[in-house]
Amino acid sequence: MKFSINSKQSEVAAFCVFEKESLSGKLGKELSQAVKKKRFNGKFGEIFKTKSDKQELILIIGLGNKKEFSLERLRRVVGKLVKQTKAAKYETLSIDFDCCKGIFNAEELGAASAESALLANYSFDKYFSKEKKEKKRPLETLNFAWAGSKNFGVGLKRGKVIGEASNFVRDLVNEPAGVAHSLFLEKVVKNIVARHSKLRLKVLNKPELKKLGMGALLGVNAGSSYPPKLIFIEYRGKPSGKWTALVGKGITFDSGGYNLKPTKYIEDMKSDMAGSAAVLGTIKAAAELGIKQNIVGVMAVCENMVSSLAQRPGDIVKAYNGKTIEIGNTDAEGRLVLADALAYTEKKYQPEVMIDLATLTGACVVALGYYAAAVVSKDERLVADLKNAGDKSGDRIWQLPFYEEYHDAMDGSISDLNNISQKGKGYEGGSITAGVFLSKFVEKSRWAHLDIAGSAYWGVNGDYLGKGPTGSGVRALCYYLLNK
Ligand code: BES
Ligand code: MG
Ligand code: ZN
Repeated sequence: MKFSINSKQSEVAAFCVFEKESLSGKLGKELSQAVKKKRFNGKFGEIFKTKSDKQELILIIGLGNKKEFSLERLRRVVGKLVKQTKAAKYETLSIDFDCCKGIFNAEELGAASAESALLANYSFDKYFSKEKKEKKRPLETLNFAWAGSKNFGVGLKRGKVIGEASNFVRDLVNEPAGVAHSLFLEKVVKNIVARHSKLRLKVLNKPELKKLGMGALLGVNAGSSYPPKLIFIEYRGKPSGKWTALVGKGITFDSGGYNLKPTKYIEDMKSDMAGSAAVLGTIKAAAELGIKQNIVGVMAVCENMVSSLAQRPGDIVKAYNGKTIEIGNTDAEGRLVLADALAYTEKKYQPEVMIDLATLTGACVVALGYYAAAVVSKDERLVADLKNAGDKSGDRIWQLPFYEEYHDAMDGSISDLNNISQKGKGYEGGSITAGVFLSKFVEKSRWAHLDIAGSAYWGVNGDYLGKGPTGSGVRALCYYLLNK
């Protein structure tokens, strides 16, 4: 989608109106009377549609109470307008943004608008036949009628990069697991790295992983026909300085292994690589934006399958840091691949900050639903920075407690650790105890764990996001890195 500012041509014109705001100045007498007659009163999200002789369609959208208006509401308004325009089969929309002048910082407003418009315009149509694809045509141009600061345009440009990176991640997550296996993902990464001079690629393959003693990651992949891969993408955005490491869970399909997932739980498990896809998307955006940080993106790519070679419940594996782990449940596989990835990344890069992203627990979906990722960390300053980035970007992050009473939950009885909680019934505080397990593989770095199980793959429709992959992590991490 292209963006423009103050261009005159568009098929659809949209106006934004606060609750109880006078309409006549904005819409002209005739139109404002028509709106009044329909009892449109500007409630948040309320839409009034009409036609004029000049424009083919006019959309008037309510912004609700002015005091309650926020950047997130703005994103939802933009998303609704884009989706309405697309549904009505028009390709060009102009939104009058006069309402936002003086409320938001112009650059932040530009970024939020571009991001939400791109997210709302997204569809995964590559498997549709030609006729069906034609019916779902996206918007071509979105114009903003904007008479405020020029920084709005700067924000639009930044938002375009971040929005497109999020959609790139959604494409990867949407791709069926039979297609998006480890070899496919490696090719995608190679393609991205080849396009940016500041990116370098290192891949650890099965022989190296064996030599390095990454028994946890290898155990998870044992039942798969595809090779495991630990992929490192280095981005140097400044000449010196410490690394920030982003480590993603990349389970290309999570069948659960011998603790097989049942119907209704297994179907969406192609999405279990959303963490590593978000890492790749963030690195891509960082390179395009020229973010002044040194970032290493780590993708721990594996497949959790059943076969005569797959690991069994009760098996014991040894991780890269020497710790032994009893496999209490083969479905708690994400923490196993991350264990090796975190321990190795810390040893190799000595990052100042290390953040992992993972669709790690169903418990996270139970706790937070779709509208926030969970953060678990002992570093309150890092939590505050991530939460702030989440709030600013709309890719929200909510903290779970990490009290010391939780910290022995994963201790093993015949090994150092167990991969499922040994306290109580085992499932209590499942997202927190998963974080406890990961913490045993980090020694020095300022570390935070983001559980994106709910936020990365929605089961509901939203105003600017929709069912399926969301690209969760990309917006929050880009905002975090830009602000660091
Ligand atoms: N990939 C799943 C978590 C998940 C569930 C993500 C639903 C998205 C939606 C993870 O590997 C898993 O299976 N976790 C288990 C852990 C349990 C066995 C301790 C879970 O949450 O049930
Ligand atoms: Mg699992
Ligand atoms: Zn999983």
